Amino acid sequence: GAPVEVDISKVEPGMLLAVEWRGKPVWIVNRTKEMLEMLPKNDSRLKDPKSEEPQQPEYCKNENRSIKPEMLVVVGICTHLGCSPTFRKEIGPADLGADWPGGWFCPCHGSRFDLSARVFQDVPAPLNLVIPPHKYLSDARILIG
Ligand code: FES
Repeated sequence: GAPVEVDISKVEPGMLLAVEWRGKPVWIVNRTKEMLEMLPKNDSRLKDPKSEEPQQPEYCKNENRSIKPEMLVVVGICTHLGCSPTFRKEIGPADLGADWPGGWFCPCHGSRFDLSARVFQDVPAPLNLVIPPHKYLSDARILIG
């Protein structure tokens, strides 16, 4: 499939933009400072907090799993059986519990991922969500693929 060029200039902090690449959903999330500060606190609750598994390109193998700290680019497909998880950025909602730090919830079998798309312990999904190859063409444009 061809690479996809995306204008990210209108993705405000806290927002998610969904695009399609090779027939798959790809999410671009502009994380706020508060969201980024939350991430290290999740580490002890995650299966692969340092993203040791090759679920991202080398240039995204860092704390935020991204090129620019705030901007996450991730394939929106659950690593369990392929459902599309739901973006749940709010902190501590009643249905997910007071310790929910924001992230994604998969409605199929309850897998949970944080705002770096890292999988929590005690859920069926084995791996963090996949970061696709991508690069910045300018501040406002990225190329996925
Ligand atoms: Fe997401 Fe099973 S497909 S939890």
